[in-house]
Amino acid sequence: LTNSLGMTPPMGWNSWNHFGCNIDEKMIKETADALVSTGLSKLGYVYVNIDDCWAEISRDDEGNLVPKKSTFPSGIKALADYVHSKGLKLGVYSDAGYFTCSKRMPGSLGHEEQDAKTFASWGIDYLKYDNCHNDGSKPIERYPVMTRALMKAGHPIFFSVCEWGDMHPAEWGAHVGNSWRTTNDISDTWDSMISRADQNEVYAEYARPGGWNDPDMLEVGNGGMTKDEYIVHFSLWAISKAPLLLGCDIRNMTKETMEIVANEEVIAVNQDPYGFQAKKVRMEGDQEIWAAALSGYRVAVVLLNRGPVRYSVTARWDDIGLDPKSVVEARDIWEHKTLETRFVGNLTATLDSHSCKMYVLKPIA
Ligand code: GLA
Repeated sequence: LTNSLGMTPPMGWNSWNHFGCNIDEKMIKETADALVSTGLSKLGYVYVNIDDCWAEISRDDEGNLVPKKSTFPSGIKALADYVHSKGLKLGVYSDAGYFTCSKRMPGSLGHEEQDAKTFASWGIDYLKYDNCHNDGSKPIERYPVMTRALMKAGHPIFFSVCEWGDMHPAEWGAHVGNSWRTTNDISDTWDSMISRADQNEVYAEYARPGGWNDPDMLEVGNGGMTKDEYIVHFSLWAISKAPLLLGCDIRNMTKETMEIVANEEVIAVNQDPYGFQAKKVRMEGDQEIWAAALSGYRVAVVLLNRGPVRYSVTARWDDIGLDPKSVVEARDIWEHKTLETRFVGNLTATLDSHSCKMYVLKPIA
């Protein structure tokens, strides 16, 4: 979308994956504090996004959305001011239907201009816009009504289209939003995670600065996967130029979770200015190579073992867009070390079950 937002994939946090409807202003403030105190905000995690359940079920007499008094007594404007004072940005959630998915608050269908103005007046920086309980009309007709409302609301608002991929939003999303969901909801399991990465990969060519495919938010740190599996999760989201929206409790992160999500070299792949989304360039049984060109003549590559046993995986230069003769320096960005060997033509790694290696390859001759 040409609102000059999302020139690289958005980074931040969203309440849904860990907290569901169990949210309140104290927790949101503490999360904002934790993003700063952990150093995550400095790494780019700046959006603090409130998902479903922040509003009263009824609008006020003028038809305005009303923050839920029992959980957000100070209101959303005060929260936005607080979050902004920390150098962060605030996101909210609504729905292109009559109710949101939880059915615990109204949607914005028929109230698009009014709600966009409300969000802008509060200083909201990001809107996730869901697709539940709509009138049956096409998303491609309903979503742009909110796009136009946001464009004239007077405050720049990142527009996250949450249509779940059914109507192939990648094909029309670039005119409508800054990101579009390509899948239904993720859960905190290997199968759920990896299948969302697969469904999202199909649309790689549609990703670009200003508009990103969204395979749903991160589950890293929520406890349902192994460390290796979370590393695969974060690697695939990063190389796929997916939004990096943390979905765990930022106030109580383990050292292990922090090491994964604070990996600056992996984040740099995600935030590379070229914005090319990785494609699977080779699949052999349970072994896969995902690759994306980076700026500076470099290539990011993930060598992935999806299978149940240890296996060796090879990335070949002619698969990943490098001259087969070029001599390449390989940086292992999970180990944080540049390999001493120079590679020509290919690079092989032996991988445990459900694990990956991620390299940045740089031709040096
Ligand atoms: C849908 C969305 C989720 C979340 C919930 C909230 O399921 O896809 O990401 O926003 O609604 O109810």
